[in-house]
Amino acid sequence: MPLKQKSSGRLISFEGSEGSGKSTQIARLAAHFQKSQRDVVTVREPGGTEIGEQIRNIIVHNSKGDEMCAETELLLFAAARAQLVREVMVPALLRGAIVLSDRFLDSSTVYQGIGRNLAADPVNQINRFAVGNVMPDLTVVIDVPEEVSLARLKQRASDLPDRMERENVGFYRKVREGYLVLAKGMPERFIVIDGTKSEDAIEKKIWTEIQTRLK
Ligand code: TMP
Repeated sequence: MPLKQKSSGRLISFEGSEGSGKSTQIARLAAHFQKSQRDVVTVREPGGTEIGEQIRNIIVHNSKGDEMCAETELLLFAAARAQLVREVMVPALLRGAIVLSDRFLDSSTVYQGIGRNLAADPVNQINRFAVGNVMPDLTVVIDVPEEVSLARLKQRASDLPDRMERENVGFYRKVREGYLVLAKGMPERFIVIDGTKSEDAIEKKIWTEIQTRLK
């Protein structure tokens, strides 16, 4: 990515099913970077900007959400991403920050492309249009079996599962396999972590891998 030539900013995205423990690990990784005096910016997708949070609300919580077709869903995720990239990520990367993103374009490839069976070509084109030249330097996939994902979701305190969380076990199996296939095809960018290990063990593994790979 051209930005890399100009700055020491780095973009690390986190991917995985719901309940994979992304947010816990992002917070722990941010603390490691902060201890090393790095400027760290954490964002989440969809969201991270005012426009993005409004889009998130439409996608995830809209009571009419069940009527949303897969194409609309893809475009809304892409719209939120386009805004996040330009409003938050590019300025942060240019000033040399480490940007940690809870989900990025691979979520659309996997959830809309593989999960919802949209054709790969348009999904990839829309993804590219949304991100411009901002691609992750590294992507951490926290891999958990679909049964673990669903069990953890059920334990969450929220009263009603949102519309993405109501998907069945088959959908989460496709999501999991989708991430593993992506990671296998791009081993230089992806780090796959076993999300069934303890939080401390996962944190240690991620930090070790990232230090090695960012050198
Ligand atoms: P999360 O906040 O638990 O990560 O939930 C966001 C939901 O949105 C999750 O079900 C995954 C889904 N999603 C997509 O389907 N496509 C996307 O491009 C993104 C960013 C998220």
